[in-house]
Amino acid sequence: PHSPRKLAAGNWKMNGLTAALSELDALAARDNGCDVLICPPFTLLTPAVAHAGEIAIGGQDCHAAESGAHTGDISAAMLKDAGASHVILGHSERRADHAETDASVRAKAVAAHEAGLITVICLGETEAERDAGDTLRVIETQLAGSVPDCATASNTVIAYEPVWAIGTGRTPTNDEIAQVHARLREKLVERFSDGAAFTLLYGGSVKPGNASVIFDIEHVNGALVGGASLKAADFGPIIDAL
Ligand code: G3P
Repeated sequence: PHSPRKLAAGNWKMNGLTAALSELDALAARDNGCDVLICPPFTLLTPAVAHAGEIAIGGQDCHAAESGAHTGDISAAMLKDAGASHVILGHSERRADHAETDASVRAKAVAAHEAGLITVICLGETEAERDAGDTLRVIETQLAGSVPDCATASNTVIAYEPVWAIGTGRTPTNDEIAQVHARLREKLVERFSDGAAFTLLYGGSVKPGNASVIFDIEHVNGALVGGASLKAADFGPIIDAL
């Protein structure tokens, strides 16, 4: 019924002190022409909302529990309370550094949806998995395991981020991205009545110089950008390419 909304999303990861809010001011002042999301570190969430204008603000993780004895963690309700509308879940850095699994990502996504957040659920193969010819099998398993049954095109965005393309300056070929995104779309349509309308992002070394070629690929509805989202001078042209 509906076609996917386009989204330019920035993941600041563990970057950004108060001075970085000036980059948000610059993004908020632009005529962006599509949905833009910035996910700053938790410490900047509240001020970021005040600087964001029309730009959506999201967290980079949340706990699956509503509240309780989880030192150092943050709940979906806390993100929502701080003014966030989105949360990134299952980023490969969290899967690797914090032993997140498809099951834990799925539980977090349920909690996030219950709190009224839109989830950006990340998946992607490692270089060894790609070399072994396992890419499609891996992303299908991650999609089936990480995305909860309560997912809809309105509350869930899927981001394909090949692990070996993150922060490396290397990207898959257009055909490789197209193949994965087509498979993601096929599986979403099989499972969800509104599967055709889920926003599918590509992430991994997206820069101003390669964004428009990547955005031309079928079933690529935007990007999840790390390094090039830190400066409005880089992220602005990426937004314009979408
Ligand atoms: O979540 C975005 C990210 O992992 C991609 O990072 O720096 O390669 O754009 P980067």
